[in-house]
Amino acid sequence: SKGGYRHFMLKEIHEQSQVIAATLEGRLGDHQVLVNSFGTDAEQLFQGVRQVHIIACGTSYHAGMVARYWIEKLAGVPTQVEVASEYRYREVVVPEGTLFVTLSQSGETADTLAALRFAKQRDYRGSLAICNVPGSSLVRESDLTLMTQAGPEIGVASTKAFTTQLVALMLLALALGRVRGANGEHAPIVQGLRELPGVINQVLALDGEIERLSMAFAEKHHALFLGRGAHFPIAQEGALKLKEISYIHAEAYPAGELKHGPLALVDSEMPVIAVAPNDELLEKLKSNLQEVRARGGELFVFADESIRMETNEHLHVLRVPAISEALAPIVYTIPLQLLAYHVAVLKGTDVDQPRNLAKSVTVE
Ligand code: M6R
Repeated sequence: SKGGYRHFMLKEIHEQSQVIAATLEGRLGDHQVLVNSFGTDAEQLFQGVRQVHIIACGTSYHAGMVARYWIEKLAGVPTQVEVASEYRYREVVVPEGTLFVTLSQSGETADTLAALRFAKQRDYRGSLAICNVPGSSLVRESDLTLMTQAGPEIGVASTKAFTTQLVALMLLALALGRVRGANGEHAPIVQGLRELPGVINQVLALDGEIERLSMAFAEKHHALFLGRGAHFPIAQEGALKLKEISYIHAEAYPAGELKHGPLALVDSEMPVIAVAPNDELLEKLKSNLQEVRARGGELFVFADESIRMETNEHLHVLRVPAISEALAPIVYTIPLQLLAYHVAVLKGTDVDQPRNLAKSVTVE
């Protein structure tokens, strides 16, 4: 049932603090992640990992893109991320000690499953599935599994499955860091994970404000999403959500690429959404935003509440509760989900069952 919500998607967005807490349950020690959350063989398998290949489709692919930033930063392990439908049809070089990771809500996505079967013919160190459906094909066929605890996701547009995948991937980055000798320096992230459900609830309380912002999009035909660093894939996910359920053409760019082409598209009919957490790239992002303003673009900046930014009729700022840099991608996902949702409702689309799409793509 929709539990009193108008759509499953809205219900699932609002379940996120609870399902994130469930995904963390029993997986954190006092200051460290519990490596055996990934299985009793995980510690030994992870010790020999020198590289990571992450394979997924759609929203799950975006989670993998975020994980690349985390695994390289927290564990120092080179990480590649690729969509399954490309990976499975090329000659892949597999360096010694490579861990093969699939991400999937359903565990039945045809291309992702085929990629796992392809990988099993190659010389990988082992396979890990991060998945939301127990007993699914991906779970049955992988060496290690970590289940997300999102519960059934009915809306075709993935929401809580994505944020719980991000939590699981942060656990993976911390676990790989731990077996490679990180000792205590990631304790603040572990503490941040414990506090995350509470922060998510604060972000969900921005719903009314985001609903008001959404009115600026309902009549538009295009939108541009910008982010930098680990927030570039979050911008991509925001664009996917918007196009998937509102049918507005949306694209995402790493903000530094603006002047290499997409800036030519910017005019007063092109709303630009920027994800601007308070990290080291903020100053650079601010100058990218100036470039947009100078072309008459309407700007919507989702920013840390501590950032001082002057607003005016063409520059709207949504203040997001303060969050550590490491966990910000999880938090900043939520306002983008809500924005896509409210725009779709205004446009009167079938939010939970968008045209042409299926929840689980079990054929090629
Ligand atoms: O079940 P999976 O995570 O393997 O599904 C992958 C994609 O089909 C899925 O994430 C799709 O992109 C969603 N509809 C996006 O909201």
